[in-house]
Amino acid sequence: MTAEILPSILSADFMRLGEQVSILQDAQARALHVDVMDGVFVPSISFGFPVIDSLVAQTNLHLDIHLMIVKPERYLDAFTKYQGSTIVVHAEACEDLAGAAKKIRAAGCRAGAAVNPETDCREVFPVLDLLDEVMVMTVHPGFGGQKMMEEILDKGRILQEEIRRRNLSVHLEVDGGVNRKNIRKVCASGFDQIVCGSAVFRGDIRENLRALREALAGEGQN
Ligand code: DX5
Ligand code: ZN
Repeated sequence: MTAEILPSILSADFMRLGEQVSILQDAQARALHVDVMDGVFVPSISFGFPVIDSLVAQTNLHLDIHLMIVKPERYLDAFTKYQGSTIVVHAEACEDLAGAAKKIRAAGCRAGAAVNPETDCREVFPVLDLLDEVMVMTVHPGFGGQKMMEEILDKGRILQEEIRRRNLSVHLEVDGGVNRKNIRKVCASGFDQIVCGSAVFRGDIRENLRALREALAGEGQN
């Protein structure tokens, strides 16, 4: 699968969100990563429905909605109204991950499961066939701009092997601390959906995206 970059709007300037999303659209971004935090599952609180409603009204970009909330099952009806989006729930936060994934798909969205750095990625093996995406957190969730724990990239290989063995078609997403220097290593570890927050939004968005794509395209070279 060809790897792509998903800009995470958590690092956007919310006074200029529309303008910044337009820049990404003009630069042919396909999707946005949207971090919803409840201040309980993670220490921070981000944003919720009003911001996502505005995004849906103003752009055609695919939304990859990362729910960092406890018991996300309570909100699946509300989030699956963003038809066609990817809804990612945390394996640690769900009482019934299989049930959540089935519900997301049945409601017309793509289903994703995220695993925190300390969670064994094999925990999602029993539900892999119900998922469109597995998200591996390479930082402790809650904040943008953290340093990647590179040793966690090995989960990409473990998941990729299982996906191939079972002949499934599941995207592998990485979230946390990706930058121009490590993006090739990330891709080489089997990830094809690469979330970039601060690496896209800090400074010149257009130039950052260009440089990240260039570094990504260099994958496999020395
Ligand atoms: C962190 C969020 C990430 C964050 C990534 O909890 O889930 O999506 O925006 O930001 P960077 O790329 O700056 O680590
Ligand atoms: Zn995220």
